[in-house]
Amino acid sequence: MDFEIKIGTPEKQRGACAVVGVFESRKLSNSARMLDKITNGYVKNIVALGDMDGKANTSLLLHKIPDTQFKRVLLVGLGKEQEFKEKSFLTAINTILSNLQKTAATDVTLFLSDFPVKERTSEWKVIQTVIAGISSNYRFDQLKSKPENSQSHLRKIVLCIDDRNEMAVCETAMQRGLAIAQGMSLAKDLGNLAANICTPTYLAKQAKDLAKAHKMKASVLEEKDMEKLGMGSLLAVAQGSEQPAKLIVLEYHGAGKKEDPIVLVGKGVTFDTGGISIKPAAEMDEMKFDMSGAASVLGTLHAIAEMKLPINVIGIIPATENMPSGKAAKPSDVVTSMSGQTIEILNTDAEGRLILCDALTYAERYNPKAVIDIATLTGACVIALGNFTTGLMSNDNKLAEELLSAGEQVGDRAWQLPLWDEYQDLLKSNFADVANIGGRAAGTITAACFLSRFAKKYRWAHLDIAGTAWKSGKEKGSTGRPVPLLTQFLIAQTKAST
Ligand code: BES
Ligand code: MN
Ligand code: ZN
Repeated sequence: MDFEIKIGTPEKQRGACAVVGVFESRKLSNSARMLDKITNGYVKNIVALGDMDGKANTSLLLHKIPDTQFKRVLLVGLGKEQEFKEKSFLTAINTILSNLQKTAATDVTLFLSDFPVKERTSEWKVIQTVIAGISSNYRFDQLKSKPENSQSHLRKIVLCIDDRNEMAVCETAMQRGLAIAQGMSLAKDLGNLAANICTPTYLAKQAKDLAKAHKMKASVLEEKDMEKLGMGSLLAVAQGSEQPAKLIVLEYHGAGKKEDPIVLVGKGVTFDTGGISIKPAAEMDEMKFDMSGAASVLGTLHAIAEMKLPINVIGIIPATENMPSGKAAKPSDVVTSMSGQTIEILNTDAEGRLILCDALTYAERYNPKAVIDIATLTGACVIALGNFTTGLMSNDNKLAEELLSAGEQVGDRAWQLPLWDEYQDLLKSNFADVANIGGRAAGTITAACFLSRFAKKYRWAHLDIAGTAWKSGKEKGSTGRPVPLLTQFLIAQTKAST
């Protein structure tokens, strides 16, 4: 999908389709009014007929309108003007895209001033439209023997603004939107791939390919390297699997070697059976998405490299399967982590924290400005926040605020849960320094408490994406989240430091 920013109003443009809006009060949007003027009341007539009442989620496709240079005009219902918020905008864009994708139109022209989103700039509208446009075209058919013939004809979205002064910011926004969307597509592809294909070895290869394409450095630690480093916790998860575990490190230096990096640590469990504490069969297939944190790290690095962002970022991905076998770790096993802390494994299904803790210790060597881990860590997070919101926990309130605000900015939101000391006591073990589970209560928080014990040497935040990384049911598939949040956060970091 191509995008173009233009200055202009409907009467001066041409193309396969123009979109103009109608509010629920039957009031016409700016461009609808202009179109109405040059067509002698064509739009008003239709509204008066009652075929377009301006309700959200509705649209009406018109052909051969006299006196315009567009082959088609799509009227789109915008809902109540007073209540036109972010969600209204996204609903309108998605209505437009899904309706046009049923036609043979190859391009569409939108007029951004038609959408009076409260407290949002043209820049925001551009980023959101680009992400929505590319997402609507996303298909995952690489595993089908014949690609399904569902590709639409729509190839280009033209975004018209009316203020020449906004051209530069909108162009930048378009580039950012493209980079984010490409990062999301990469994350989606990796998430959607079957677990027999997307193994730890496959993820390592992906990181190397990404490094080659974008002037990054990729290195992969093998199990014997991890043994030398004393990563007994990560290896305990890996030992039940025939697939060798990998610790993948991807380095992006956009700000010279001197500046300390931000480290992103992504959970890369390419399939989570639960191990000996095995999961029930229903929906276990969805545990192929248990590497979504890793996928979001690769997607975010792809995005920032694409933008050539002046910042240093290191991605660390502990990648392994979690399998039951004669060699697998068992409940009651005590292992020694790289940090020296001993861990009693009470439940082998709480494996994410066991691999992340060693990766967090490994991150210390980069002298990070901040470390953010991203993990499909707890079912409890889905219960607490559902599928719209990522869970955020941090040992640094400023960092937490920055992540929350990045998510808010780009429509990929998180919500903070407390990490108070009281919760730490739930992880007491009679036999080791710490237990790997804390019981049913506050499961998301106790998981983060566990991680916090390995993140004491730097500013750290944890994103629990168990509810947001993929969709279940008919629309089953990876969402590409939280690539937008992470990328927006890193963009904001470059602004903060200049
Ligand atoms: N990968 C799962 C978390 C998960 C479960 C994400 C369902 C999305 C949907 C994680 O490894 C896990 O199994 N966590 C356990 C922890 C428990 C044993 C303390 C869980 O949430 O049940
Ligand atoms: Mn698990
Ligand atoms: Zn898991």
